[in-house]
Amino acid sequence: MAEKLRPLVAGNWKMNGLAASAAEFGKVVAGAAPLAGKADLMICPPATLIPAFAASARGSAVTVGGQDCHAKASGAHTGDLAAEMLADAGAVAVIVGHSERRADHGETDAQVRDKAQAAHRAGLTAIVCVGEQRSEREARETLAVIGRQLEGSLPDAATGANLVVAYEPVWAIGTGLTPTPADVGEVHAFIRQHLRQRYGAEGGRVRILYGGSVKPANAGELLTIADVNGALVGGASLKADDFLGIAAVYG
Ligand code: 13P
Repeated sequence: MAEKLRPLVAGNWKMNGLAASAAEFGKVVAGAAPLAGKADLMICPPATLIPAFAASARGSAVTVGGQDCHAKASGAHTGDLAAEMLADAGAVAVIVGHSERRADHGETDAQVRDKAQAAHRAGLTAIVCVGEQRSEREARETLAVIGRQLEGSLPDAATGANLVVAYEPVWAIGTGLTPTPADVGEVHAFIRQHLRQRYGAEGGRVRILYGGSVKPANAGELLTIADVNGALVGGASLKADDFLGIAAVYG
């Protein structure tokens, strides 16, 4: 039986947002109040904005996360940020293994796993992303690909509190395309089974988010599928009204 988990709707701002974006973030914070206790809301802005956003969200239903971290806690790694630094800045979570980082920076499953473990070392929730390419779906390799990514990218130990898995089909990101509800359900059930085998009862408590062209118009259909415990939202999270419109599915 699937446990009833409190949904998480997380916005990934990617490389968007300047100090002036605090106003839009403020609208998310204000609009999130009615969802308190029903769903967790999170915005993952560029790291430059984490301290200000975390301060303005304090005491609200919204938390703040990072988009990537280095595996090490400190050292000679110019331009990188440690998970400890994100936590120090006010983040409670960090996305690791997003397909854009796997593509742009050649991140491997093993590196993603090290980053997830770094997140745990720093007391952050790791949001680990997996997802197939269009060619892999067409070749009916989706579950094999996802299985390999989970095997390689997930940390050795995890709880429902410190791990979130995001299923983001690469071909659905920023394209307006989404898998059918049946296809989403199949992958999420597969991920759930993997999590239970790996982490036992805690694996039943890890939230599995769907990501890829989630909008207010399709949120009702996508976010009510079994084992879909929320969303990781890109483009639509940049507008408070759209982001809140998605989260309202759980209102
Ligand atoms: P879009 O919602 O813009 O498709 O992006 C999804 C995503 O990559 C979230 O991490």
